Order: sequence, then C-alpha cells, then structure tokens
Amino acid sequence: MKNFEETIEKLKKYDQTHIIKIMEKLTEEEKETLANQIEKLDFENLKNLYNELTKEEVNSEKVIEPISALKKNKLTEEQLEEIDALGKNIIASNQFAVATMSGGQGTRLGYSKPKGTFKIDVEPEPKYLFEIVCDTLKRANKLFDVTIPWYIMTSEENNDEIIEFFEEHNYFDYPKKDVMFFKQGQMPLINEQGKLLISENKVIKEASDGNGGIFKSMSISGCLADMEKRGVKWVFIGSIDNVLLKMVDTTLIGLAEERGVDIATKSILKNNPYERVGVICKKDGQVGVIEYSELSKKLAEAVDEDGDLVYGESHIMCNLFSINILKKLAEITLPYHKAHKKNSYLNENGELVVPEEPNSYKFETFIFDSFNYVDDIAILRGTREIDFAPVKNKEGVDSPETAKELYNNYWRNNKE
Ligand code: UTP
Repeated sequence: MKNFEETIEKLKKYDQTHIIKIMEKLTEEEKETLANQIEKLDFENLKNLYNELTKEEVNSEKVIEPISALKKNKLTEEQLEEIDALGKNIIASNQFAVATMSGGQGTRLGYSKPKGTFKIDVEPEPKYLFEIVCDTLKRANKLFDVTIPWYIMTSEENNDEIIEFFEEHNYFDYPKKDVMFFKQGQMPLINEQGKLLISENKVIKEASDGNGGIFKSMSISGCLADMEKRGVKWVFIGSIDNVLLKMVDTTLIGLAEERGVDIATKSILKNNPYERVGVICKKDGQVGVIEYSELSKKLAEAVDEDGDLVYGESHIMCNLFSINILKKLAEITLPYHKAHKKNSYLNENGELVVPEEPNSYKFETFIFDSFNYVDDIAILRGTREIDFAPVKNKEGVDSPETAKELYNNYWRNNKE
C-alpha cells in the first residue's frame, strides 16, 4: 500500500491543505490515484503563476516595429516561379508534414463533440471539418505524388472520440499508417486563492494547456521523432476550423527556404485599422503578435506606399515550422495566458459546488508566442476570400453559415 506521507508534505509545503481534508474521505484506490497525480504536478510552477496573477500589471512602453509581408503581386513571374520551385521540391521529396490542432473545446460553436466532427453544409455535399482538411491533403498528395504524413493533435477530453470518428469513416481513405494522433498536455486549474480544484472524479481538475502546448506534446508523444525518421524538414501547423486553410502552399514553404528562416506564416490584411485581431510585428526587437488593444491609434492607422496598413498582418493560425525549431520549442515553456472561468469543484466536505460567477483560472499557451524565439520570420500575405473562412461562433460572424458561403464561392471559382 502506498505511503501518503510525501504527498501530504508536498500539499502542506504548497499551502494546498484543503486536499488533505478531501483525501481523508476517499477510498484507498481514489487516494492513490490522486497521490500519483500530485506526484507529477509541478507545484513550483503553479505557485509562480499564481504570484504573477496577483502582481500589478506594469504597462511598459514597448518599441513596436512592423514586419513587412511578402505580397505575391510584388514579385515578377520568374521570382515567384523560383520560390514555388523550392517549395515543390520540399513536398515532392517527402520533406513536408502537416499537423492539425484539434484539441480545442470549441465552446463558442456550442457543439458538444470535437469540432473536427462538425458537419458543414457545403456544396456539392455536406462535409465534416476533418474531411475538408483531409481532402486538401489528398489533392496535394495527388499533385506531388507523395503521401504527406498527417499528425492530429487531440486533447485528453476528445482523443478517443476523434480516433473513433476516423475509424468510423475509414480515415476518409487517407492511408492509415500516415495518420498519427497525439494528445496535448494539461494544466491544473486554480481558484482565486491559488488553491487547486478537485473534480467530481476526485482528481485535480485540469484543462488543455492551449494550442502552444503542441510543441511539447509533439515531442513527448514521439511524433517529432517520427517526423525525423521520415526525413521531414518542414511542418505546417494549422487549425481545424478554417475551411479555406491552404496547408500545402508551395510559396509559403519556398519563401521560408529562400529567406533561411525557421518559421513562416501566412497572414491576411486587417479589414480596417480597428479590427479586433492580433497583428504580427516586432516588440522590443522580438517577433510577436500584438493585441489590438496594445496598438496606439497612430500605429493602427499607419499605411505603407500601397496604402495598406503597416500593422495589418493578422495571424490566422497558418504557420510553418522547421523541424529544428520544433525541437527547440519542445524544450521551452511558452508564457501562460490566464482565462477567468466558471469551474465546479468539491469542497472540503466533499460536496459539489457549482459557481455562478467565474471562480478560477485556466492557463493556456499560444502557438504564436513561439515567434519570440526566432530572430526573424517570413510572412506571406494571403487573401481573405482564398485563405480564411473560420468556424468559430454558432451564428453571425465566423459561423458555419459564413464559412459555407466563403467555401462555396471559392470552389465555384477554383477547380483543382
Ligand atoms: P480557438 O482558440 O479558436 O479555440 O482554437 P476553439 O477550441 O476552437 O474554440 P473556443 O475558443 O473554445 O470557442 C484555434 C485552434 O487551436 C486549437 C483548436 O482546436 C483550433 O484548431 N486548440 C485550441 C487546440 O488544439 N488546443 C487548445 O487547447 C486550444
């Protein structure tokens, strides 16, 4: 039988004694499960995150500089051909892989199953979001006579359901040996006093650690090693919910090769200076994404010689990473962003409390924070109607309805 002394010491040291009280009411088996979880948790990190939460935010003045995007129409036909040839060569020589992030909860869509299993009513027949991604890959495979390895990030919560879905649909005829699933990591939730929450299942309540968790989980799961074994040099990482996402873009890959950078991203130009989206720029010399709220009116309105917004390159989760930078990023912990949420929990008497107001913090890392770890990135300016049709909300903007329209319009004009 397990000795719980160490667990109790750890809980006392980190001021989590409420858990000791709950433990007293658990069966030996439940106690053991909880103790195993506690053993693995990084309490020091949680303590630091909590201390950060309570610190006053310092509004430091950052030096903001733009990073210009490549506009395809600024290139001559020969220049574009050269860049595309570099990209084609990478794909055709099996040095390219795709990862799809589908670990999100899709709360705004209000669909209880994994977002990728959502069916959208496009022409000529409705398709699942996973199927749309798969179709894009199949078209590229045919064009370049390869099979692009496809890595799918799931979460602890939706992993089994996603695998079952793929089995049920026979992997949409994608070669099964080239589809790899991996789970993203989790982070415990803490309440406003820095205490861990215990769930109804009598374990510490955890939630997905955000899409920035992809780097570590790719490594832990062995996917990164699998890529290396296959000789992959570039990995495209995209979201599951953009029905126009161009994952296999020869210009994006060629541009990264030509510029000698480790990260390339495709952006779209902001609709107007005040659109509430993050834009890619440099902050104190470091590449990053700046929130609309951090951008002064003057900078937001600045335009270049073409009349385009200087700070207008919005991040659309359309990113390409070299295998080398993925290996480095797997060793780094990206900064955590907090979200104040409602979460039920067991109190010291073992009773379930369902809060009516946000009572706890969830910690997430964001994929674009990885940009901070390189000196420069290449940005390719995409086009809204061609590259971006997100399914985020149940109704209104960025909903299945708007995505369907954009998808249908695109495919009426483009036959591949
Ligand atoms: P969003 O940040 O838009 O989140 O994800 P979401 O889960 O789709 O929707 P909401 O915010 O709950 O309504 C952008 C992409 O990142 C993935 C999502 O699956 C989507 O492809 N993601 C997000 C993860 O893979 N893991 C996460 O923890 C969060």
